[in-house]
Amino acid sequence: MNQRNNHRLILFPLPFQGHINPMLQLGRILYARGFSITVLHTNFRAPDPSSHPHFAFRSIADGLDQSEASMSDIPGLISLLNARCASPFEECLQEMMSLQGGEEVPVACLISDSLFGFTCGVAERLKVRALMLRTSGAASLYVYTIYPVLKEKGYVPTHGSRSEEAVKEFPPLLVGDIPAIDSKEPEVMSRLLDDLIKAIKNSCGVILNTFEELEHPDLTSLREVLSVPFFPIGPSHKCCMTSSSSSLLAEDRSCISWLDEQPLKSVIYVSFGSLAAMSEAEILEIALGLAESEQPFLWVVRPGSVHNPEWLEKLPSRFLEALEGRGKIVKWAPQVEVLAHPAVGAFWTHNGWNSTVESISEGVPMLCMPCFADQGVNARYVSDVWRVGVHLNGGLERENIARAIKRVLVDREGEDIRQRALVLKEKAIVCLGQGGSSYQALDALVSHILSCE
Ligand code: UDX
Repeated sequence: MNQRNNHRLILFPLPFQGHINPMLQLGRILYARGFSITVLHTNFRAPDPSSHPHFAFRSIADGLDQSEASMSDIPGLISLLNARCASPFEECLQEMMSLQGGEEVPVACLISDSLFGFTCGVAERLKVRALMLRTSGAASLYVYTIYPVLKEKGYVPTHGSRSEEAVKEFPPLLVGDIPAIDSKEPEVMSRLLDDLIKAIKNSCGVILNTFEELEHPDLTSLREVLSVPFFPIGPSHKCCMTSSSSSLLAEDRSCISWLDEQPLKSVIYVSFGSLAAMSEAEILEIALGLAESEQPFLWVVRPGSVHNPEWLEKLPSRFLEALEGRGKIVKWAPQVEVLAHPAVGAFWTHNGWNSTVESISEGVPMLCMPCFADQGVNARYVSDVWRVGVHLNGGLERENIARAIKRVLVDREGEDIRQRALVLKEKAIVCLGQGGSSYQALDALVSHILSCE
């Protein structure tokens, strides 16, 4: 393989699927550029080292008990992880630095998730340069930088009667698109955002899984406002295509052979990521909407995504049998492979940033149903800026669902959307090629890391 360059990078992802995936992709990209990679991980949701034989792994004792590890209050959990990991992380980093004289490849730089704000202070104390990986897009990060202004203007809280109102300061955003996450303590979310922006400003650069052609105006604004270098190197999953997966759940590969039997671009793929949860009534309505659409569908119903764990029981009896093979439900899919499959014609998504970028990279148009955090901003850009998808308007009702699926997948009305999605896919491919914007950003990132010594 490629030559090692005698520099080690320490990666520290936040332990959620949407954060682990882009961090390990980044690790693979930088490994291919000659760096040695050590991944630090919490005990909570640890990645599987056997899927990444080229990386070293070290665990950070988070001390979370089962009730603390609950996913019902994500901002609270992130805040707790920040508090619990600070000391063990510092000890681990210190130990790694002390080993440098011996056999160990010297540490060139730390790259941590931007929601692990405390890492910057520790790195500064130990004289290690710190870069941040921001796992969302540039637009939503920019919205976070103007969050205090949005609050001052009365746009936050974002729900209620004003949710359809335009945010004059940030077209085409609507009030309901502004990032919000339910938390038992609302001030925890504000503190996390403050820490995120502070950490980014204190870092020596930010890596984003996006590309210049997709988000140039927001990248320009970020560079102005935050005054640190930005490296948009995405779509990162396309630069490191390997068979190894960083999924925390087992992928059900039977969906690929099922897709093999479906007509070209006929299938609506349905998945709402690794965190979003729904009521049984909502799941039932989705099932009936999928049936009414008369299109083949592949639907990921993750354990834990329905409040009642006996998730399939709530579906109408013999629901799938009655569809005579037109539908397939799995608990977790090899999503990147699914989106690249020729039978997939559209993606009904919550617009997590990874899902959004993965869909764009394959030219798959989207039906958008954002749930929380950055997803509202991502979905608004999909429907109103890049115009490669539509929102599910009119609520989660079977008739709306069926109509929207047909629009994005087969109706003439959706033809322009499908065409634009293919044009954007081309841009995503070109930016990764030699001389392309992401290729150059990666070169710049490598030089930046090496100049950090
Ligand atoms: C979270 C946030 O919700 C998201 O908005 C933020 O940008 C990142 O963290 P998540 O909700 O899980 O992530 O969504 P997403 O960003 O789309 O990440 C999900 C990842 O899981 C994707 O890489 C997707 O390919 C993968 N996935 C999902 C699978 O591999 N199989 C599945 O069945 C579903």
